Amino acid sequence: MKTAVYAHRGSKCNCPENTLPAFEEAIRVGSDGIELDVHLTKDQQVVVMHDEKIDRTTNGKGQIKTYTLDALKKFDAGSWFSPKFKGTRIPTLTQVLEFIADYQGVLNIELKTDRNVYPGIESRVVALVNRYRPNLPVVYSSFNHESLMRLKAVKPNADLALLLWERLAEPWHYTKQIGASAQHLWQPSALSETAAQLQSHGIKVRAWTVNKPRIMQQAFEMGLDAIITDQPEAALSLRKSRCK
Ligand code: G3P
Ligand code: CA
Repeated sequence: MKTAVYAHRGSKCNCPENTLPAFEEAIRVGSDGIELDVHLTKDQQVVVMHDEKIDRTTNGKGQIKTYTLDALKKFDAGSWFSPKFKGTRIPTLTQVLEFIADYQGVLNIELKTDRNVYPGIESRVVALVNRYRPNLPVVYSSFNHESLMRLKAVKPNADLALLLWERLAEPWHYTKQIGASAQHLWQPSALSETAAQLQSHGIKVRAWTVNKPRIMQQAFEMGLDAIITDQPEAALSLRKSRCK
C-alpha cells in the first residue's frame, strides 16, 4: 500500500500556511491530500487559520472570534512569510472549497475546537462542504473528540479522524466508539507498534507532522496510511524514488 502525502496547512514550507497560495502549491506538486484548520468569526463565518489568534500569521492582533469576517479580511496574511505574498488574505472555507474546485484528492478539515468550542461550527462546516463540494472526499479531524461526535450527529456518514498526541491502550475500542475511521497521531506515537495494531483492526493511521526524510522513509516502510507534512514536494519525490 502506498502511503499518501497530505500537505499540512497547504505547502507550508514555501508558502504562508493556510492560504490560497499554499493550497495552490500543494495541488501543483501533486499532494494526495490537503490539511487545513478552521475557526469561527464573531459573525459565525468559517475561516481557515491555524492559531486562535491572528498575531503570528497576519499583521493584526487578537482572537479570530472577536472579529467579523469583513474586519479580518483587512489583515495581510502573507507578508509575515515573505514580501512575495504581500496582500494575501485569510481565506474562508467557502473560498478554499471554490478554489480547489477541480482537486481530486482528499481534504482534511481540522476543527480547531480544542481551545474555543465555537458552538455550531460543526454544522456550518458540513453545510459548506455539502453546498460547494458535495462529492469531495473529506476527512474531519479534531483534538476535541466531542466536536467530532457533534459533527457525526449532523452528518452520520462523515469520515472522522481522532487527533491524538499519545498512544492509547487498545485504541481501536475508543476509535470505534467515537465512530472514527482513523487516528491522526503525533509522529513519535505513530511510529510504534500501535500503527500495525490499529491497522489490523481496520483503522487508518496518519502521522503528523513528518518533515525529516528519515522519518518519511520509516513511515513509508511501515505502510502508514498517510503522512501529514509541511514538505509535500520532498515527500512525494522521496516516495517516488523508492518505487524505482
Ligand atoms: O492534523 C495534524 C496537525 O495539523 C495537528 O496539529 O497544530 O499543526 O494543527 P496542528
Ligand atoms: Ca492542523
